[in-house]
Amino acid sequence: MSRTLDLVKWTIALGSGEQNFLGAKWVPGFLARLKGDSQKKWALRLLSMSPHYFIDGTSTKRADETTDAFLGRVFDVIVETRIEIYEKVLAGYLKSDDVVVDYGCGPGFVAAAVSAHVRKIYALDISDGALACGKILNGRENIEFVHAKDSEDVIPKGCVNAIYSYAVIQHMTDEVFRSMLDTCARYLHAKGKLILHVQLPDDAWKTEAEWRSDASAKGRLKFKYGLHCFGRTEETFVQMLSERGFEVTECLEMERLFGREDRELASQRLIVAGKK
Ligand SMILES: C[S@@+](CC[C@H](N)C(=O)[O-])C[C@H]1O[C@@H](n2cnc3c(N)ncnc32)[C@H](O)[C@@H]1O
Repeated sequence: MSRTLDLVKWTIALGSGEQNFLGAKWVPGFLARLKGDSQKKWALRLLSMSPHYFIDGTSTKRADETTDAFLGRVFDVIVETRIEIYEKVLAGYLKSDDVVVDYGCGPGFVAAAVSAHVRKIYALDISDGALACGKILNGRENIEFVHAKDSEDVIPKGCVNAIYSYAVIQHMTDEVFRSMLDTCARYLHAKGKLILHVQLPDDAWKTEAEWRSDASAKGRLKFKYGLHCFGRTEETFVQMLSERGFEVTECLEMERLFGREDRELASQRLIVAGKK
């Protein structure tokens, strides 16, 4: 029953494009009509409906807690996890005067954690709803939320010092990933850095070819809406980046960066690259 309810909730929040959670046209308009605390409350409720953000995925609601109190508590947990991502993963690559792109920013928690440490962030995503939630929950003076389709008009070409992307590339097909790299090449300064959080293949993370060969209805729906996760080998990343004009300078184990052993982190890497 709760699975059916989830499917109904996901369907009404889906946008028309592939992988477009919270992309439904009504989401930004609905949030814009609300004021103050109601806006934040509904932004959190909408995010909790969406399987891309799993905002309530790691915490458990207490019996004596209202849903909104629970989501408020989850918000604080996510803020802390994204601060840790900034400190342990990104801080070493970003400088206070940098202009930065957060590629696939979602509701902007990572951008908010980074914002105090750089000059300007363009927070880019394909989901109108995630961007609308991001503005409400994680708006900062130096963060500009940008829909991917408008980014060419907004982000200055050849001037960006760093582009980072966290928990995004695993949702991209090879074709979309190549197009992302071409976009990054246009925005990045000649000495700019690409900082990519990526997933290697393992038992849970299948390759694109494996996902495509899954003919079941569930498999095809997961593929269409980005609920699959693609793993790629380190060699594949090096080659794909090289073909798009980037040289990989570092490939770091996420477990080492976070300083702890963790089943999920074990097959994740941080790839740092510059223009050739
Ligand atoms: C799992 S969320 C991660 C959000 C955020 N980076 C974080 O770590 O909190 C993945 C995000 O990537 C976005 N995304 C997927 N494909 C994209 C694309 N082609 N261009 C830009 N964003 C994309 C999704 O809309 C979603 O918001």
